[in-house]
This record gives sequence, structure tokens and C-alpha cells, in this order.
Amino acid sequence: MGNFDKIVNLSKNRGFIFPGSDIYDGLANTWDYGPVGVELKNNIKRAWWKKFVQEAHNSFGIDADIFMNSRVWDASGHTASFSDPKMDCKSCKTRHRADNLIEEHSKGKVNPDLMTNEEMEKYINEHHICCPKCGKCDWTGIRNFNLMFSTSRGVTDESQNLIYLRPETAQGEFVNFLNVQRSMRAKVPFGIAQIGKAFRNEVTPGNFTFRTIEFEQMEHQWFCHADESMKYYEEYKKKAMDFLLSLGFNKEHLRYHDHDKLAHYAKAACDIQYLYPIGWEELNGIHHRGDWDLSRHQEFSGKSMLYLDPYTNEKYIPNVIEYSIGADRLTLAVMCEAYEEEKLDNGETRVVMHFHPAIAPYKVAILPLQKNLSEKTMEVYSKLSKHFMVTYDEAGSIGKRYRRQDEIGTPMCVTIDFDTLEDNTVTVRDRDTMQQIRIKIDDLVDYVSEKIKY
Ligand code: GAP
Repeated sequence: MGNFDKIVNLSKNRGFIFPGSDIYDGLANTWDYGPVGVELKNNIKRAWWKKFVQEAHNSFGIDADIFMNSRVWDASGHTASFSDPKMDCKSCKTRHRADNLIEEHSKGKVNPDLMTNEEMEKYINEHHICCPKCGKCDWTGIRNFNLMFSTSRGVTDESQNLIYLRPETAQGEFVNFLNVQRSMRAKVPFGIAQIGKAFRNEVTPGNFTFRTIEFEQMEHQWFCHADESMKYYEEYKKKAMDFLLSLGFNKEHLRYHDHDKLAHYAKAACDIQYLYPIGWEELNGIHHRGDWDLSRHQEFSGKSMLYLDPYTNEKYIPNVIEYSIGADRLTLAVMCEAYEEEKLDNGETRVVMHFHPAIAPYKVAILPLQKNLSEKTMEVYSKLSKHFMVTYDEAGSIGKRYRRQDEIGTPMCVTIDFDTLEDNTVTVRDRDTMQQIRIKIDDLVDYVSEKIKY
């Protein structure tokens, strides 16, 4: 088992992801996407939207506000119980999650999700689990720590109201169930999807962008009849896996993991885990939530969530199959999966990111062999940049320039040389095979389009 060091270094040096507030020595567990990383993440979000909204029959996208009426979080159960069991080390004053301490100590053999706080406390004491930071075994008792960030809204002291930064995007989808159903004349079963920021005051954030306090989620709620809900649950498990495979993941690096402990309202729940350098970890979740969410919003808002089936005249509150994946956690998995240190025939090693061409940050790098080819180079650049994200590099030997593009996963490098001036052709070098072919400039747009199809 390793860590994310290589990805972290490459990220900083090649413009994927920088430490947040870097020039002020950072702010722990915050990260800024750089020019290369933002393209990668945007492409991943676009690919997700394509599969779960554009190509999905009867799914509708929304973009709900981050701030919501606080009653939403009462209805969803977040104000009462969205918490982690935390313990403080009395000796070095660091804060830890009791469930993580048990999981790590038992090497995953004991599942703390099935334990009460009292049982976890007993286990930690009986097994002499000590503080991973200072090595002392001097714990406070377990207290539940609510993960929601709160702030206040109002211009005078008297009018201040407590509001929360949403800890998940899902509630924006539930509270807009009626709006979407009516405005789009949607018939159950139908879906609501969105991509947006979520915030959690995590007790133990870390492992680069794997667990952060601000992150982006891509969530999709499928509203359906209870009788068909298990069928759709299985369908979404498969859809979620197919989406990852379509991005180029090796299926040996992915696995389903059923939840051992279900929320009282849930009928089934599972994660898809990815084999990160730190081991198998959750990448996304698929949850059968019954009619709990809409029923709770009906109860707390006083608005009926009953759906009248126009064919059967049955009135019911739909069940929900939720599919949720973190855009940052997925971007990190995509980077880990793409990373290769490849030994070349000449004994050298090249670092190459084998991104699926559709999600590669830049599709084409344009590289003039000599500086005095700039006019022709700019002509090709302008032609391609109307269709794709392209980049340009004229500094250093052509070998070094290829290596830089390999490191950011650019699938095609186009070189302009003196023959280009004669016959309007360029050389296209493939990132993975490193093979080169000669192509007419007029055919380039079609050639690249075909290569990056998704
Ligand atoms: N609405 C359901 C929900 O939010 P979750 O399992 O808490 O479920 C869904 O979160 C996904 O969001 C996770 O599978 C993960 O990909 C991502 N995620 C959750 N917490 C995160 C964090 N602190 N940092 C980065 N990604 C996170």
C-alpha cells in the first residue's frame, strides 16, 4: 500500500492541482485546480452529465442553491444525526474518528459501523488502541460531532439566522421533485441530477483530494414506484460501474461493496470501491432510500409529495434510488488509474497519463520544430482551438516537449516542420503508441474528433 505522493508532485509541477492558499503556507485540506486539472475535472463532469442526463431517458438536470432553508436539514435528518464519532487525545490534543481507529487497528476485520459508541469505546480501551500521532492511550469519551458547516444570514444582530452550507447536493433534488415533475410534465419513473459543491467539517480529512472539507458531488435521484425499485437499484449499480469502465478504468481495480449496516429507512445500499494507492476505498454510492426523503419533506414542508399515476390512477409517494459520486474523488481515481512510469526501449523512463482521450485536459499539443514556423503554427492552432482545447509549446527539444505532453496526458502531438510549408501536412504523434503519421491540415479536425469520441 502506498500514498499519493507521486500524483501530488506531478499535480503541482504540471498544473493539475495546487495546495490551497499556497503563498500563505496553505490552508489544510484545501486544494486549487490549476489550468490542466480544471480541464480534466470539467471533462469528467461533462462525461457524467452526458451519461446521466443527456443520454438518459427521462432524466433532468438542475442547479440548486448551496444555501437552503434550515428546515430542509431538519427534514433530511442532518441537523440531528449527520455526525462522526470523535475522540480527542488528551495528551497531544489531536482529534480522531473512533470508527477509523478501530478499522485501522483491526486491518478492516472489524466493522465499526455495526457498533454503538459505547461498544466502540470499550473496543478501543480493551485493545489498547493508542493515538496514531503521539502513541499515548489517553482518550476522551466519544462524542458525536456534526459535520455541517454553519454560518449566519441577516444584516442586523437581531435578524441573524443560522444557515448551513449544504453537506450534500441531494436535498436540492428532493425539494425540487414537484417543480421538475410539473414544469417538465415528467412521469414517474424519472430522474433529477445535479453537479455542485458540498461542504463537510470532516474530523479526519486528508489523503490529498480524497477527503476534503469542500468538494463537488455528482448526484442523481431516480424516482420510481416501490414495486419496481429493486429492479432500478440493480440497474443503477450496473450503470454506475459502466460509467467508470467507459472512462477507461480496469475492471480489476473496481469492486462493489454492500453496506453491512443500513439506515432504518434504506432497503439496500452499496458502494463502488476503487483500488487507490492507499488501498480499496469508496468511490461512489448507490442507495435505495425507499420513500423516506419525499415523505420527510412532505411532513416538514406540509406540501403533498403524492404522485398521481395518470395510467393507473394510483396515488403514492415515489421511492428513490440515489447514485452519488464525488467529482474530486473521481478525478483523483482517474489520475491514479492513468499514471504510468513506462520503461522505454532506450532504457529511459517516461511518465505518461493514459487518460481516455475524451477527458484528457488538452486534446492536441501543437509543436513547431523550429521557431521560424510560427505563422503556420498559429494557423493550425487557430483552426483546432475552435473545436478542442489545444496547447502550444515551442520551448526545448522535441523529445522534452513530447515528455511534457505525456505527463499531462495529451493524446496527440502535432508537429509543424518545413515540409508543412510545402505540402500543408503535419506529423501526428500518438501518446500511447508513440507512433507518428502524416496528415493533411485540412483533415486534422475530423481526425481528432474521431479519436476523442465518447
Ligand atoms: N447524498 C448521498 C451522499 O452524500 P456520501 O456517501 O456521503 O453520500 C457521496 O457521499 C460521495 O461523495 C462519496 O462516495 C464520495 O465520492 C464523495 N464524498 C463524500 N464526502 C467527501 C469528502 N469529504 N471529500 C471528497 N469527496 C467526498
